Amino acid sequence: MRVLSVASEAVPLVKTGGLADVVGALPGAVAGEGVAITTLLPGFPSVLRAVRRAKEVHSWPSLLGVPARLLMGKLGEHPLLVLDAPGLYQRDGTPYCDMTGQDWPDNWRRFCALGRAAADVAGGAVVLPAKGKGAATALSFDLVHAHDWQAAMACAYIALAPYGDGPPLPSVLTIHNMAFQGQFGPEVFPQLGLPRTAWSMHGVEYYGGFGMLKAGLYCADAITTVSPTYAREIRDPRFGMGLEGLIEGRGDVVSGILNGIDSAIWNPEIDETIAATYSVRTLARRSANKRALEKAFGLDKDEGPLFIVVSRLTWQKGMDVLPDVLDRLVEMGGRLAVLGNGDALLEMRLRDAAARHPGRIGVRIGYDEALSHLMQAGGDAILVPSRFEPCGLTQLYALAYGCVPVVARTGGLADTVIDANPAALAAGVATGLQIDKVDAGCLVEVLGRAIALYRDAPTWKRIQRNGMACDFSWRASGRAYADLYRSLIA
Ligand code: ADP
Ligand code: GLC
Repeated sequence: MRVLSVASEAVPLVKTGGLADVVGALPGAVAGEGVAITTLLPGFPSVLRAVRRAKEVHSWPSLLGVPARLLMGKLGEHPLLVLDAPGLYQRDGTPYCDMTGQDWPDNWRRFCALGRAAADVAGGAVVLPAKGKGAATALSFDLVHAHDWQAAMACAYIALAPYGDGPPLPSVLTIHNMAFQGQFGPEVFPQLGLPRTAWSMHGVEYYGGFGMLKAGLYCADAITTVSPTYAREIRDPRFGMGLEGLIEGRGDVVSGILNGIDSAIWNPEIDETIAATYSVRTLARRSANKRALEKAFGLDKDEGPLFIVVSRLTWQKGMDVLPDVLDRLVEMGGRLAVLGNGDALLEMRLRDAAARHPGRIGVRIGYDEALSHLMQAGGDAILVPSRFEPCGLTQLYALAYGCVPVVARTGGLADTVIDANPAALAAGVATGLQIDKVDAGCLVEVLGRAIALYRDAPTWKRIQRNGMACDFSWRASGRAYADLYRSLIA
């Protein structure tokens, strides 16, 4: 079975968050299930740099008004297609924003072009030249799998304006985060190349505007999200962000498939970016990583609990509550290392806390993949107090690294962490700590609970070991995606 996976990010070529980890891991996750995934990405500068020797396999004189060509390369050992359209993607800044953090105003064109290209490729537009005596062959697929609003229009174009006259391919849309929807004014509609009938509630129109995620959710044959709990939560207005009605209406095709982790990248036994590798049997070796982490953040060297945060600094992640509890954290004997970027006010409040507590709180504003590995390997506990969390990967990496997750009971966090309450401790199954509500009171309480458990060394070690024994590899989820693909093709 051949699947075209369409997204705006994939590790190791371009990443702003967990979406990239998942899209990058998916081809390997389903390969053993007889599914061959080709990934289609926009030609952002970092992607083009990585595929310098890729060959052109198709071109569009005008793709939504912009010249574009398709390059064929490799994502690890799996096939990759890159949509090279300098007018859309060859820019400084992040994939979505300019250098000042403002969304690019033409994001609708940038990502509708990605969707249009995906629908063309899926429909057979790409013909590979003959090799030797063989005939030219069209690149063909059985199904399209789109990720988030940036790729959602692939599903819409396939359903509403397919390429060629063959029957439209089945499509799957995965929601990695309902909070990002790609909404634009109605004035862009005439430029999308869609039939007039598509401008309707039963198409791409959304409360009088143009909604890219909405269009994809309406048109996809199946909708998945990245944890079973989030799949339930998005039927509720508190999590559905306006799309709960649509999700509820399509309830029979919505399911949750938990993200896995790529154990070639996130594995403390072979991780080359950390100070000392270790396993569940050699946990004591973690202390070399703790020392390296203290040094990296200018923290005092001591045996007390060292908390970490590796996160986008946003309201979703509960990062506005964190600064309120830091004085208490230090009073209770804790230390904290924060790596993240995002909201400027939150960055400033965290820097202030670090200035108030030298040696106890260290803050690194920025994005640093290698440092994030060292933090998981050297930190005692990671804080993930998200208000909503479709899946969350940092708590999964933490579990694998023996860094105890302290999380809010929502979405994928609820599905992957077992709270160390008395019953779970007695049963020997606890893997972390949970809070019900994201506010300063609950956070202080859970920090106190974590510190008390940390001081009970045998219990803490048991929690670490339980976490490290969890299997969050892609095995089960790879099979679940493959089963879903098969059910849609049949
Ligand atoms: P989200 O995608 O919502 O940001 P996830 O937990 O799914 O949350 O994924 C976040 C990913 O980004 C993880 O791989 C995490 O390690 C990484 N990450 C987040 N912030 C940083 C940072 N400042 N530096 C390095 N890695 C980061
Ligand atoms: C999104 C979500 C996060 C999830 C990631 C990968 O960024 O916020 O919870 O883990 O996508 O699916």
